[in-house]
Amino acid sequence: MTPGFRRSRTLYREALRRLVGGVSSPVRAFRAVGGTPLFVERARGAYVWDVDGNRYTDFVLSYGAILLGHADGGIAQAVHNAARRGSVTGSPVPEEIALARLVQSAFPVMERLRFVNSGTEAAMSAVRLARGFTGRSLVVKFEGCYHGHADGLLARAGSGAATFALPDSGGVPRSYVRETRVLPYNDVQAFRSLMAREGRNVAAVIVEPIAANMGLVHPEHGFLRTLRVETRRHGSVLLFDEVISGFRVRLGGAVQLFGVRPDLVCAGKVMGGGLPVGVYGGRKEIMRCLAPEGPVYQAGTLAGNRAAMAAGTAALLKLRSAGFYTRLERSTRKTARALERLAARHGVAVEVPWTCGLFTVFFTSRPVRNYSDAAATDRKAFSRYFHSALRHGLYVPPSPFEACFLSAAHTPGILEDALRRWDRVFGEMAAGGRRRGS
Ligand SMILES: Cc1ncc(COP(=O)(O)O)c(C=O)c1O
Repeated sequence: MTPGFRRSRTLYREALRRLVGGVSSPVRAFRAVGGTPLFVERARGAYVWDVDGNRYTDFVLSYGAILLGHADGGIAQAVHNAARRGSVTGSPVPEEIALARLVQSAFPVMERLRFVNSGTEAAMSAVRLARGFTGRSLVVKFEGCYHGHADGLLARAGSGAATFALPDSGGVPRSYVRETRVLPYNDVQAFRSLMAREGRNVAAVIVEPIAANMGLVHPEHGFLRTLRVETRRHGSVLLFDEVISGFRVRLGGAVQLFGVRPDLVCAGKVMGGGLPVGVYGGRKEIMRCLAPEGPVYQAGTLAGNRAAMAAGTAALLKLRSAGFYTRLERSTRKTARALERLAARHGVAVEVPWTCGLFTVFFTSRPVRNYSDAAATDRKAFSRYFHSALRHGLYVPPSPFEACFLSAAHTPGILEDALRRWDRVFGEMAAGGRRRGS
């Protein structure tokens, strides 16, 4: 089965004449794997259909923003109702309070919060706030963690930037990242010694508590706790970036999963039910430094708009249903383990780390515990895997540094069907490997 991409190709040619790289966000251009990006005609449940009529089981899910499945009826209705009542007015709306209540019940650490329009804005603003609160300038981040594209956080970022092997972005003056320190993920010793040297100047330590932008990398036992202990000792703000993990691995994200309490949290993706949204929040005394209560400025014309608030509320209400995360965790575990078994049967070396709602297929036989390990995985094998998956009706992220996501719409039947396709993908890779070897 070889799907045709004629209409996608035609649209891409026109898009290239109008949009930079033909896309609105770099990873969508397929540069890491080659080929033509799919133009999606529609999406429903666990599936997307491209403009050529090919159907794919979707494991991209808007890079983790979709958790209930595409085109959820409740969310669509909420957005429709909000739009009819005026999606944005520039005044407070009751829908902000409704969503804030749900977010705070999931993340009690957000004693006060602020809605913004993206994860980038949330992380960037939270860092500014931490600097304003502490009166210090240094920010510590971890290699391979991505926190959006704010200048100071694009120091050796993962995700799209790593895909293009751009350790730092063009257009970011050296002086902007001079106040940023980058350490290997999971390296407790490196962190302790940095804090011993520079802790008194560190405003914030920002971390993905479950790293998902170098593929999925788990925090090792004691890593997050060490961050908590050392930041407390030195009076620095601990900031968890839960833009991916929040509301996905548990309603209360990694904070709930691991029981380590940061000072600030930022989130987005799932919380918007498919609309643009972000949030940051945390301890009252820190949040009070934010305008209009305090001197740290941050604002947004569309922030807290009725449509996004209503979509988020509709999404979070559904996620609170009994057993949601138990089912999601079970299906993720089964899928990840089945993938390892299938790959092994065909002699394809993979590691498939997983957590509730996401997993990564790394082409390596060694565990991946940081960005160097992720960067050392077999990217050519990943490209072959990606294109074979596409031919077999599986839409997986077009980069080895992105995770695969599951949604509530990925039923056991749909996943069994997907695994049969994956079986053929690994079979093709093994046959290709034999041909190349002969
Ligand atoms: C952990 C994390 N933080 C921040 C962001 C930036 O979010 P956005 O793309 O909504 O600006 C992302 C995006 O992938 C992310 O994964």
